[in-house]
Amino acid sequence: MLTNDVLAQWDRENFFHPSTHLAQHARGESASRIITGGKGVFIEDRDGNRLLDAFAGLYCVNVGYGRLEIAKAIAEQAKELAYYHAYVGHGTEASITLARMVLERAPKNMSKVYFGLGGSDANETNVKLVWYYNNILGRPEKKKIISRWRGYHGSGLVTGSLTGLKLFHDKFDLPLERILHTEAPYYYQRPDSAMSEADFVAHCVRALEELIEKEGADTIAAFIGEPVLGTGGIVPPPAGYWAAIQAVLKKHDILLIADEVVTGFGRLGTMFGSDHYGIAPDIITIAKGLTSAYAPLSGSIISQKVWKVLEQGTDENGPIGHGWTYSAHPIGAAAGIANLKLIDTLGLVQNAGETGAYLNQAMKEALGDHAHVGDVRGEGMLCAVEFIADRRGRTSFDPARKVGPAIAAALLKRRVIARAMPQGDIIGFAPPLCLSTSEADQIVDATAQAVKEVLG
Ligand SMILES: Cc1ncc(COP(=O)(O)O)c(C=O)c1O
Repeated sequence: MLTNDVLAQWDRENFFHPSTHLAQHARGESASRIITGGKGVFIEDRDGNRLLDAFAGLYCVNVGYGRLEIAKAIAEQAKELAYYHAYVGHGTEASITLARMVLERAPKNMSKVYFGLGGSDANETNVKLVWYYNNILGRPEKKKIISRWRGYHGSGLVTGSLTGLKLFHDKFDLPLERILHTEAPYYYQRPDSAMSEADFVAHCVRALEELIEKEGADTIAAFIGEPVLGTGGIVPPPAGYWAAIQAVLKKHDILLIADEVVTGFGRLGTMFGSDHYGIAPDIITIAKGLTSAYAPLSGSIISQKVWKVLEQGTDENGPIGHGWTYSAHPIGAAAGIANLKLIDTLGLVQNAGETGAYLNQAMKEALGDHAHVGDVRGEGMLCAVEFIADRRGRTSFDPARKVGPAIAAALLKRRVIARAMPQGDIIGFAPPLCLSTSEADQIVDATAQAVKEVLG
């Protein structure tokens, strides 16, 4: 077996890590953490550390680590038929069955599932389908997509453009044309602290209306949003936000894409975030929780309204010119079937709601009054703590202090993994949905100690 030193050296010399400070890593200034195993909410590294993964990888290992039921399903599928494509009407028992299982769980009025590999390519598919849809309907000008600042929808060309975070745009010449951004539903960061939630919703609606007015409704095809902002800071929307936004979209005949890559399959304590907030999307993006990341698989769930037009399009133009070699990969599909069954048998949607509420309440009690905690927020099995230099003025810390990463590092010393969110001093928690209350206590205790160490 290779020693950790050799692996770390090979890592520095050969491996291009995503979302990493490349120069520091290549120089050996940041640690190589080599993960070897996992069970439940814990992972283990090669140095023998056992860590509570309070971010479920990248909020994706929803059923927890080490589930043999999924491993077995993958192995059996690989032995039986590792691959066949899904082009020109081909399928496998696994991909057909999973499509049906997804639709059985999806909000009403959904018609078909297109399978991809990850959340980014699924959103790429969605934008192409929306453009195709408007071309078939004879509205070639209606093509722009509105996203929100702080939204996260991937890091491809179009999807990185949809993402509303500076780090994903700067130096990449993004966002591309046709992609617009509107106000984030981020009540804590409201422009005036005197605003009520209702005032702030009205402010977000006004901003959207103004953008539509400026661009012309006949140029805007779709609005994309996560039910709860994820990577942008784990921010549940203010009450009434989704109802108000949907009314605007309906008025202007703008499609709604609900990006449920994080919230799909239970994270908010409902099967979909759309169920939780009364969202009626035209397209839903799924990934992560679809297989709990045991194999890469994503999907676009297409409503009857959009599907009818896609059918019309192929009657007029021939087969749809869209597909990946690995669309509906049978190994991913087999993992998805076993995963969705496990979510049901273990009651994980309910546990996400109940234990998630417990985690959020305990975090509020432990940190809500701290002088440098501006906000403790969450929904279901999502929780975030936002740090602030001055509570009354809501002034941020100097970014050079890197308060978020320092707290994540202090948590790691206590064997808990949380995520320093990329924009702002925010620590995010998104544990596997099988978290127990005693594991939630462990997360909260470690966080309180870490905050004390860094901020007093
Ligand atoms: C809401 C949302 N959409 C899309 C994506 C992109 O998914 P992927 O990283 O699988 O491409 C992510 C990833 O975190 C996400 O959180």
